[in-house]
Amino acid sequence: MVITQAPVTRVPYSYLDQQFRESESILEGIRQLAKTGDFTLGRAVGEFEGRFADLCNVKHAIGVNSGTDGLILTLKALGVGVGDEVITAPNSFIASAGAIAMAGATPRFADINEQYNLDPGCLEKAISAKTKAVIPVHLTGNPADMDRINEIAMRHGLLVIEDAAQAVGAAVDGRPTGSLGAAGCFSLHPLKNLNVWGDGGVITTNDGDLAERLRGLRNHGLVGRDEVAFFGHNSRLHTIQAVVANVLLEELPSITEARIRNAATYDELLRDLAPHVIVPPRPTPTGVRSRRAIPTRSRSSRSTASTPPPATLSRCSECSSGESSSPPTRISGWSSDSGSVSSHRRRCRARKTRSRPTSA
Ligand SMILES: Cc1ncc(COP(=O)(O)O)c(C=O)c1O
Repeated sequence: MVITQAPVTRVPYSYLDQQFRESESILEGIRQLAKTGDFTLGRAVGEFEGRFADLCNVKHAIGVNSGTDGLILTLKALGVGVGDEVITAPNSFIASAGAIAMAGATPRFADINEQYNLDPGCLEKAISAKTKAVIPVHLTGNPADMDRINEIAMRHGLLVIEDAAQAVGAAVDGRPTGSLGAAGCFSLHPLKNLNVWGDGGVITTNDGDLAERLRGLRNHGLVGRDEVAFFGHNSRLHTIQAVVANVLLEELPSITEARIRNAATYDELLRDLAPHVIVPPRPTPTGVRSRRAIPTRSRSSRSTASTPPPATLSRCSECSSGESSSPPTRISGWSSDSGSVSSHRRRCRARKTRSRPTSA
């Protein structure tokens, strides 16, 4: 059988250069900021926090240096630390578990469900006497099952902190992410759907005392110009990033809609590649698809992705297997070249040659 390899079109991993090619309104905002010298917290940060709190339908939003810092500060502000265990999802970006460790606590994992989010049943089994909090992750903008997670957390007396880094603008039955736990932590990293020009993050909460403590923790524990209430971090949201974020908030709906459309296109095209590629169920219409997770039988080793090739796979002429070959068939551009269809065939051929008896 012949394996045909479709022409490969590489899609850039990031479209940031295109997104910001025309940035006059942001640059004008930065020019205006420069004239004021209001570079530390200040008006732009306050404006952004107010607008972000409205977006999430919460009373308080606190701008911080990154989504990771948001998680660390929130854990510390809620008194989670040494000797405590915090349960989170094992398939998240490293920051979810890393933040727990950096707060001094121990990360524990509970397995995920078919939507790739924390499985409430597994969460309950993972709770121990040391568990103090749970961090559900709204992976790829798809909200975790917060109703069941909150119910379990309440029964066991656990704090719930949403890792909403990938979920700006998502909601569950009209209730925005970031309003569904004690606090929500968002990332404004360039690859997120509300993406500033560097690092940035924001914490949301309805708890006034927690908000107050977080404002202190992000700013050396300062409660005024010269008074320090406790030791804290320097993790303020940069004022320039707040200027960027204020402009981008206008574009958030169209950026998010475009990402949802793109995700649907990938779902549609990738369905043909089963069983090599599994298109996950997408039952939550309010997920924002800030990113896209596509499980494959092999893992990409580089940061570029191609448009999905047409399903032209057929059985390998060397090992007679298009499916159960080992290593699994990879598709060029979706994984490293060393895993492409043709290199799979080359490897099979080499393996055969190696195992052929040699005539001495
Ligand atoms: C699920 C998740 N949590 C936390 C973070 C950390 O956010 P940041 O990069 O802003 O520190 C990220 C960032 O990619 C993330 O995807």
